[in-house]
Amino acid sequence: MPFTPTDYLPYDFANRRHIGPSPSEMEGMLKVLGVADLNQLIDETVPKSIRQDKPLDFGKPKSERELLHHMRRTASRNKVLTSLIGQGYHGTVTPPAIQRNILENPAWYTAYTPYQPEISQGRLEALLNFQTMVSDLTGLEIANASLLDEATAAAEAMTMAQRVAKSKARAFFVDENCHPQNIAVMRTRAAPLDIEVIVGAPEEMQADKVFGAIFQYPGTHGHLRDFSNEIAALHEHKAIGIVIADPLALTLLKEPGAMGADIAVGSTQRFGVPVGYGGPHAAYIATRDAYKRALPGRIVGVSVDSHGNRAYRLSLQTREQHIRREKATSNVCTAQALLAVMASMYAVFHGPKGLKAIAQRIHRKTVRLARGLEAAGFHVEPGDFFDTITVDVGLLQRGVLQSAVREGVNLRRVGDTRIGITLDERTRRATVEAVWRAFGIVMEDRDFSPEYRLPEALARQSDYLTHPIFHMNRAETEMMRYMRRLADRDLALDRAMIPLGSCTMKLNSAAEMMPVSWREFSLLHPFAPADQAEGYREMIDDLNAKLCEITGYAAISMQPNSGAQGEYAGLLTISAWHRAQGEGHRRVCLIPMSAHGTNPASAHMVGWDVVVVKSAENGDIDVEDFRAKAEKHSDTLAGCMITYPSTHGVFEETVREVCEITHRHGGQVYIDGANLNAMVGLSRPGDLGGDVSHLNLHKTFCIPHGGGGPGMGPIGVKAHLVPHLPGHPETGGTEGPVSAAPYGSPSLLPISWAYCLMMGGAGLTQATRVAILNANYIAKRLEGAYDVLYKGRNNRVAHECILDVRPFADSAGVTVDDIAKRLMDCGFHAPTMSWPVAGTLMVEPTESETRAELDRFCDAMLAIREEIRDIEEGRMDRDNNPLKNAPHTMEDLVRDWDRPYTREQGCFPPGAFRVDKYWPPVNRVDNAYGDRHLVCTCPPLGDYAEAAE
Ligand SMILES: Cc1ncc(COP(=O)(O)O)c(C=O)c1O
Repeated sequence: MPFTPTDYLPYDFANRRHIGPSPSEMEGMLKVLGVADLNQLIDETVPKSIRQDKPLDFGKPKSERELLHHMRRTASRNKVLTSLIGQGYHGTVTPPAIQRNILENPAWYTAYTPYQPEISQGRLEALLNFQTMVSDLTGLEIANASLLDEATAAAEAMTMAQRVAKSKARAFFVDENCHPQNIAVMRTRAAPLDIEVIVGAPEEMQADKVFGAIFQYPGTHGHLRDFSNEIAALHEHKAIGIVIADPLALTLLKEPGAMGADIAVGSTQRFGVPVGYGGPHAAYIATRDAYKRALPGRIVGVSVDSHGNRAYRLSLQTREQHIRREKATSNVCTAQALLAVMASMYAVFHGPKGLKAIAQRIHRKTVRLARGLEAAGFHVEPGDFFDTITVDVGLLQRGVLQSAVREGVNLRRVGDTRIGITLDERTRRATVEAVWRAFGIVMEDRDFSPEYRLPEALARQSDYLTHPIFHMNRAETEMMRYMRRLADRDLALDRAMIPLGSCTMKLNSAAEMMPVSWREFSLLHPFAPADQAEGYREMIDDLNAKLCEITGYAAISMQPNSGAQGEYAGLLTISAWHRAQGEGHRRVCLIPMSAHGTNPASAHMVGWDVVVVKSAENGDIDVEDFRAKAEKHSDTLAGCMITYPSTHGVFEETVREVCEITHRHGGQVYIDGANLNAMVGLSRPGDLGGDVSHLNLHKTFCIPHGGGGPGMGPIGVKAHLVPHLPGHPETGGTEGPVSAAPYGSPSLLPISWAYCLMMGGAGLTQATRVAILNANYIAKRLEGAYDVLYKGRNNRVAHECILDVRPFADSAGVTVDDIAKRLMDCGFHAPTMSWPVAGTLMVEPTESETRAELDRFCDAMLAIREEIRDIEEGRMDRDNNPLKNAPHTMEDLVRDWDRPYTREQGCFPPGAFRVDKYWPPVNRVDNAYGDRHLVCTCPPLGDYAEAAE
């Protein structure tokens, strides 16, 4: 038989992994678009004036095997010691069932934020469990579905307190026993808002001088204290009491609610979420019912669907920053949904008794550790503690810390003479013995005589986690099936395209995801000595260099944990630069009308005044309006925030002019990098005139969206701004930190790094080109059925397009909601709804989708258009039709059918798979009902039917 050589490389899919359309599909698509090749399409679409002159070149792309080998080598440079540093980060055991079924399961990690409740019931239930857990443990009525980290949660609590307090004081008291990073982040947040932060001992607090106060429980050095008196004094002066509480400690200790606290915040990291060198983990915030409307972030609530069945949804959605814009007081958008789900499952997995047992075991070990130290003559503080003690070692500090490292243990340096030790769920007898040896004590950990050093007055009196969900049969079989059942209720990227404009729901490839759970990345403490994190250093340096090359900036700060946090960090950087120039009075920020709601919210958070710039008829920034406003505010212009390509999905040719006008009037340019997926390899924000941009690594650089987080929003800046980037108490810098950990959520970074390494410069550029191809292909296929609202030169769109469905409201009574819900019947997540233009759909397919999937979507959209036409032309009733009744459930299919269309038409429209049909578990959810009857914890099981009446 003749030998026919093939050019197929079995282990090197290179760009095919991420790029959906096959070469022959692409050829067909280009024909539909009437262009000879991809180069022509890109030339027609991306203006020459913004193109970068040099191609991206990162050397040869790595195959998956090469990548994993490279990652292993990098990982091995991180030294995993047992860290007993504490300070808000704890060793924890992730139950393997949760690791495998949630953290490593694309059904969970590829989901989007649950804005479309009918296809998000699974993660909404898990997040409601999280809220119930937090609410129970803290003893407060309502909790949200996570914040970014403990330090930013503390800062959110501070600004929330200012909003709700009746006290008119401008100062805020911070307990000196808070973790240093919490104090530092609150200081950063307070400064531009003219909040005076007073740090001191709780007994020194003057309640009449402050609008609120925050206390850490247990304190950073282990102290336990009942804050009831301080909080009562605050209440006397109409001020707000906040407690930062460790949720595991709360299984044994009096809860903040019982002390009278108005707000509680903290981190749920030690509920099964690996430390990961600082993140990601879910922070929580809980408050009294009276303040629920001031709670930042997303809150899951219970409502009913159109048949009166129980259905979960995000509550009070309209109060999100999209609507509040410049009135917003928080910019939280992406939070930590996936990690909140993990923490909630950890609580479900262990139940209240299990959690209590874990906490007691940790406490008993800490008591044994303390006894051993005391017996050897060391002075241990405090007298009562939960898991943290501080030992005064005088001149021995250095020696003890070093010998601890030799024993494989990191302890905390406290001042010049003390050492802090915090035990956790991973602590074994051998660990206790190793710590003793570090102190020169050679002894076996054998004295198990019971002793508790928890203050009696602080013993917890109330029950928690009483809901049946925390008492289910804990056989792994049941747990596995529970997690599977919830995942199956949701439509994530592992089932179908999620064409969400501006959200870039692209592939998160398996090879990229794997290193995240490797112990060398997941077990490092963020404040471990730098020489133990050389692998991280190498990765962060190389990724920074690549991101600088991609964006045209001089340096990157990895600190921000989301895009919005990046905006805030970028604006703070600009503010600091203005101050350094003696121009601290510059506080006006120009923001186009079409901007994402987080832009004005972030500007507000740094104390700037937002001036809104109009859009021209074609959707571009109205340059004349921009110029006029820049001139008018020339003396006080701090900068502008623009998005490129614009949120209207076009490459505006005037971008350089807009940047130039801003600079001429003394301002700095913030380019929102949310749409970088349309630019990588073709155009660089830094070259266009940007001074700062954030990059949503959870969009362009493949970090999965996790059902609403985690994310990473590092910022790139030009050279002059580098000295003003966020600093951190642990790593230095002149400015304050914006996140709890110096590198934000570094355990996610292997994902973005792997993406860059496996794509190479040419591969990344090809991804951009195909993202543009896919969007233009959709726009073309839908031509005639839907109007694309804004187009650029040659009638092309960038990487997304806005479909104008507003005319159907008049012609057929069909709203954007009806179309979004009908797409669920077709097996799709809806595109972005009503943003940036109310009543429209913004479609972004990304490069990862194949032509077959794009066609399935287009077929569904065209069929929906025909259904609208049936209504327009009187063949279908205006109120009783497949669109109004969408989505259709299995329940609808098997019930009596009295609809003026067939079951087939209702349940299996074009796009829907026959065998693999996705069935939304609930009918259309009643938003207004949910907001009127706000229930944000798991209701008793029998309650739902009643609620529906
Ligand atoms: C244009 C734009 N800017 C900023 C953001 C905020 O990013 P994040 O959700 O990561 O905070 C988004 C999020 O969708 C966005 O689309």
